[in-house]
Amino acid sequence: MEQTLSIIKPDATAKGVIGKIIDRFESNGLRVAAIKKLQLSRADAEAFYAVHKERPFFGELVDFMVSGPVVVSVLEGENAVAKNRELMGATNPKEAEPGTIRADFADSIDANAVHGSDSLENAKIEIAFFFAQREIC
Ligand code: CMP
Repeated sequence: MEQTLSIIKPDATAKGVIGKIIDRFESNGLRVAAIKKLQLSRADAEAFYAVHKERPFFGELVDFMVSGPVVVSVLEGENAVAKNRELMGATNPKEAEPGTIRADFADSIDANAVHGSDSLENAKIEIAFFFAQREIC
C-alpha cells in the first residue's frame, strides 16, 4: 500500500469537475484517505513548488496556483504514486494519452487540471505539507 498527494488545480475546480476527477481515482483502485478544498496563499504555492524555483515557468506556476481554490487529497492504494500518474497523463495535456485526466480536463501545461507526487519520497513530503496525521483516515 502506498499513499500519494493529489491536487485538483484551480482550472479544474472552476470548471466544476472535482467529482469527475475524484471518480477517476475511486474507479481505478485509489481510495481517498484525506481531502480538503482550500485557497493557497502565494507563500504556500512558492513553498510547495520550491523545487521549481529556478525554472523559467515558476512565476506563472505560482500565479496560476493562487488564482482560485484547489482540492488536495491523499490517495491510497497499491502502487498509488505510479497509478495516479498514469491516470493523470503527461504534464502537457497535448501529449497526454486519450482517456487520461489531463487529456479530458486540462487546457495547457500551466492549467493542467491536476498535480500528483512524482515519487514515494516526495509523496511523504507533499502529504505532510497539507495534512496532519489525524486528518488521514
Ligand atoms: P505539476 O505536476 O503541478 O508540477 C509543476 C508544474 O509546473 C507542472 O505540473 C505544470 O503545470 C507546470 N509547468 C509549466 N511549464 C512547465 C514545463 N515546461 N515543464 C514542466 N512543468 C511545467
